[in-house]
Amino acid sequence: MCGIYGYCGRGEALAPVLEGLSRLEYRGYDSAGVAFFDAQGEIKTLKTTGRVQNLIAMAAGQEDAGTAIAHTRWATHGGISVKNAHPHTAGRVTLVHNGIIENFRELRAELNYTPVSDTDTEIMAALIDSEYRNDPVQAILAAQKRLKGSYALAILFSDRPGCIFTVRRESPLALMQTETGCFLSSDPSTFPQCGEYYVPDEHTVAEIIPEGMRFFAGAAQKLELAATNRTQGREGHEHYMLKEILEEPETIRRTVNRYITADGRVDFSCDGVEDSLFDVKRINVVACGTAMHAGLVAAHYFRKIAGVEVTSFIASEFCDAGVRVEPDSLTIFVSQSGETADTLAALRSVKAQGGKVLAIINRQGTVMERECGHVLHTSCGPEIAVASTKAFTAQIAVLYLTAIRMAALRGLLDAAGEKAETAALCAAESIARETLKLRPAIIRMADEIHTAKDVFFLGRAVDYAIACEGALKLKEISYIHAESIAAGELKHGTISLIEPGVPSVCFLTQETTRSRVLLSVQEVLSRGGSVYLFTTGDMQGVEDVENLTVCRMPVEKGFSAVYAEAVCLQLLAYETAKRMGLPIDTPRNLAKSVTVA
Ligand code: G6P
Repeated sequence: MCGIYGYCGRGEALAPVLEGLSRLEYRGYDSAGVAFFDAQGEIKTLKTTGRVQNLIAMAAGQEDAGTAIAHTRWATHGGISVKNAHPHTAGRVTLVHNGIIENFRELRAELNYTPVSDTDTEIMAALIDSEYRNDPVQAILAAQKRLKGSYALAILFSDRPGCIFTVRRESPLALMQTETGCFLSSDPSTFPQCGEYYVPDEHTVAEIIPEGMRFFAGAAQKLELAATNRTQGREGHEHYMLKEILEEPETIRRTVNRYITADGRVDFSCDGVEDSLFDVKRINVVACGTAMHAGLVAAHYFRKIAGVEVTSFIASEFCDAGVRVEPDSLTIFVSQSGETADTLAALRSVKAQGGKVLAIINRQGTVMERECGHVLHTSCGPEIAVASTKAFTAQIAVLYLTAIRMAALRGLLDAAGEKAETAALCAAESIARETLKLRPAIIRMADEIHTAKDVFFLGRAVDYAIACEGALKLKEISYIHAESIAAGELKHGTISLIEPGVPSVCFLTQETTRSRVLLSVQEVLSRGGSVYLFTTGDMQGVEDVENLTVCRMPVEKGFSAVYAEAVCLQLLAYETAKRMGLPIDTPRNLAKSVTVA
């Protein structure tokens, strides 16, 4: 949540910084601001509520001297207002911040400082200013000793034009030197070019000048930004979400191919993940949001294919539930961003208990990757729309590969069996591609449900896990109340909410659940509710149910159907929100990377 961006170099800074900031907007978009040195060497600050676009309009015609820092905000401390927007200034110090300062009230009292804003950030400017005796690095190092919490800071000192200082703890920060100057960003994928970049170690102060960067009291890790990991534009699509759904066949293919050998075996050695990690009796999957739903789906694979017991946890519940990590268990953390605060906290707790850990992450060079050590990658490239889509199908695919590997190691799959499983997984690409052709039918459904006040999502077993994701997707971008229900649980309460005109979306892809799911469907229809059923091409008996709207997906019964279901539920949410004219990529109150617990 919140993104910081900066540039110090030859030529003007405002244009590249505001352009970079727009690419960071997925991290928060309730207000934005920029500070820069003007031609007279004075710091000027511009702030606005709303989108980066508003800031760009505000900055038109401003002249700068080649140094600027900027911020896009998702409010935590203090409401959405110009005074709470970053940058914040106290004395000679102006800064932007991503993170949370836990002891900001204590520091205000200690420094006897009366803030202008309600933020936890402003006090850091006052603190650094109070420590400043003409040595910025020493002032930042001294201030850090008194800070509790997380931060990535970009700092200007009014008597040091042409210079930016940075420091980080927990929050992400990357630096890149280009021919014209140096960039800083919360997310390396937003840099203007590919190539080498640096992630400073925690507490290391970086001094950035046009010619390069110097590190003090620590070092930085050198990483490489590949072309596939750079944020691209919408490429002609109306929304990033649609672009990302359409990319799914390709992102599934890239993700799966990374780990399948020429003879159809699963091999994680390219990421240094050894088989010994899977020598366990239990699996925990811990994640938030859509990634958590990937864990719910995968639990069915692990049980069925690898015969291993699995518990899926919501990361924010994991620590509070006091889960005891057994020595014979492996805890898998799933995260698109690699920086979700609750998932990170759970990772730290498992590591502190000496548990075995593995992470499945999409973004590169993240805090979670560094802290976890064992990491498998989803190869989706940057996912920009707040509602996660392509990361979900790729996470499911990697979890499936993990289940196959475990099954092989436990002697439950021989070489031919493993080959058959990986071949089935390779077919997910074409399943996703064929499913995209259902868009016109899904648009017709969206036309009908976009006026609903409540929508219920039903399923059993793995289809219930999918229903959970269907409800999440719809509510996060359409703001329609959506609820997922295990179909068998319907009659224990939720059926009281079914009345004429209330739509339900049902998923049915497993033969073992067919008759009982269809019974639940009948129960809803008998009470006047309408039901949209997503099912496989070969599912029998659904046409016998009167008044049911059936959408046949281009897939057969079994686990592979989840890729088709995922694409359908994503398109349904997308088309519904589009029909309602909502800001699909940036829904209200949400942010893509949730870096606060
Ligand atoms: C936020 C996003 C969701 C995402 C969740 C977990 O809520 O809006 O789309 O699923 O965080 O994020 P992660 O990066 O850990 O997968």
